[in-house]
Amino acid sequence: MVDVILGLQWGDEGKGKIVDYFAPEYDVIARFQGGPNAGHTLYIDKKKMVLHQIPSGIFHENKINLIGNGVVLDPVTLKRECESVAGLGVDYKKNLFISERAHLILPTHRALDKASETAKGNEKIGSTLKGISPAYMDKTGRNGLRVGDLLDKSFITQYIRLRLKHQKLLENFSFTEDISDWEEEFFAALEFLKELQIVNGEYFINDKIQQGKKILAEGAQGSMLDVDFGTFPFVTSSSTISAGVCTGLGIAPQKIKEVLGVTKAYCTRVGSGPFPTELNDEAGESLRQIGNEFGSTTGRPRRCGWIDLVALQFACMINGVTQLVMTKADVMDSLDTLQVCTSYNVNGQEQSQIPFQMSRIKIEPVYKAFDGWKTDITGLKTFADLPEKMKIYIGYLDKTLGVPIKYISNGPGSDQIIMAS
Ligand code: GDP
Ligand code: IMO
Ligand code: MG
Repeated sequence: MVDVILGLQWGDEGKGKIVDYFAPEYDVIARFQGGPNAGHTLYIDKKKMVLHQIPSGIFHENKINLIGNGVVLDPVTLKRECESVAGLGVDYKKNLFISERAHLILPTHRALDKASETAKGNEKIGSTLKGISPAYMDKTGRNGLRVGDLLDKSFITQYIRLRLKHQKLLENFSFTEDISDWEEEFFAALEFLKELQIVNGEYFINDKIQQGKKILAEGAQGSMLDVDFGTFPFVTSSSTISAGVCTGLGIAPQKIKEVLGVTKAYCTRVGSGPFPTELNDEAGESLRQIGNEFGSTTGRPRRCGWIDLVALQFACMINGVTQLVMTKADVMDSLDTLQVCTSYNVNGQEQSQIPFQMSRIKIEPVYKAFDGWKTDITGLKTFADLPEKMKIYIGYLDKTLGVPIKYISNGPGSDQIIMAS
C-alpha cells in the first residue's frame, strides 16, 4: 500500500521532518513532483540538513529512496546533495533510484526562469529561480529531455537542438548573461548522474507494491501552490496534491491509503501572491523571528499569518486527507491570543469557499479568537501533558476540518513529535 505525506498550505509546512520521522515504517520513500525548488529540513544527530532533490528517507539505512517521473531533476543540485549526504555516511549509490522518465532541468531552463521573472517586473511570481516552470513547460510542450535520454547516443544532438530553441527565447527576453560556467557544471553532473541507479520507476514501484512493501510518497511545495488548484498564477508548475502521486510515480489511485496532510499551527508563504491571513505587523514579525521563517532554498523571509481554515478545508477536500499533522505549534507558545480564519468576507458577503481568482479581489478574513496557552511545549512528550488551552485550539480545528490532528510537532528536532490520543 501507498501512504502520502504532503503540504496543505503554501509549502514549508515541515514535510521533510515528518517524512524522516515516519520513514522507519516504510520500505520505499518516493518524491513524486517538484524539483530543487523544494527545501526539506531534517535534523540528523542534531545536524541540520536541507534536501532539495533527494527524498527525506535517505538517512535511514536500507530504505529505498526513489526520485519519481513527476520530478524535474537538476543534475548539478543532485550531485552536490549526494556528496553532502555521503559526508554523513549515506550510501546513495545503493539507496537512491531515479526514474528514467524524470525530466532534466537544463542550464537554459534556469536562465529562462530568471529572464521570465525579470520581464514580469512587479507581477513576478517570486519563483525560486531553479528553472522549474521552463522545465515543466518543456515537458508538457513535448520538448524536454529525460534522464533516460542520457543513455542514448543522440543525447548531445537533442541537447543542442533544445538549447538553440531556448537561446531564441532568451534573445526575446534580451537575456545576455553568460551561462557557460553553468553548462560546464551541468555536463560534469550528467556524468555523475549516469553512474547512479536509473530505473523504470513505474515497474520498479509496482513490483515493490506487489511484493507487499510499504511505500511513502513525499510531496513538495503545498496544495495552495498546485498548478490547478492553487492561487494561480502564483503557483508552482506541478501537481502537488495526492492525485499527483498517481501520475508522478505511476501508481493506480486505489493503491493509495492514508493521506497525511501537514499544516503549520499558523501559516506562511514565500514569494508573491494572495495570502488572506497575512500579518504585516509586529505579530507577523514575531512569528517570523520565533519560527525562524526564512526560506530553506532561497533564504527569503517568509510572509507569516494566522491559520486559514477556508484554505485548509479546501486542501483536505482535494487531497482526501485522512490524518492531519500540525507542526510548529511551539512557535505560538508565548502568544496571548491566537486567531483562526473561519471564513472570508468578499464584498460584504461571507463565504467559506476558495474564490476562483484570489489575487484580483479583496478578501477580508473573518476570525475566531482563542486564548494562548502561554506554556513552553517543546519538551512535552504526550498529548495528556499539553496545556488545556492548546487542546481547545486543536479540538476546534479537528471539528471544523472534519479530519483528526493525529500528530503535533513541538520543535524542529526529529524526536519532538506528540501523538494525539
Ligand atoms: P518543508 O519544506 O515542508 O520540509 O519545510 P521546511 O524545512 O522548508 O521548513 C520548515 C522549518 O520548520 C524547518 O526549519 C524545520 O526545521 C522547522 N520545523 C519543523 N517542524 C517544526 C516544529 O514543530 N517546530 C519548530 N519550531 N520548527 C519546526
Ligand atoms: P517546499 O517543498 C515554499 C514557491 C515560490 C514561488 C512559487 C513558484 O520546501 O515546501 P517555482 O520556483 O516553483 O516556480 O516558484 O512557489 N515555492 C515554494 N514555497 N516551499 C516550497 O517548497 C516552494 N517551492 C516553490 O516561492 O512563490
Ligand atoms: Mg521547504
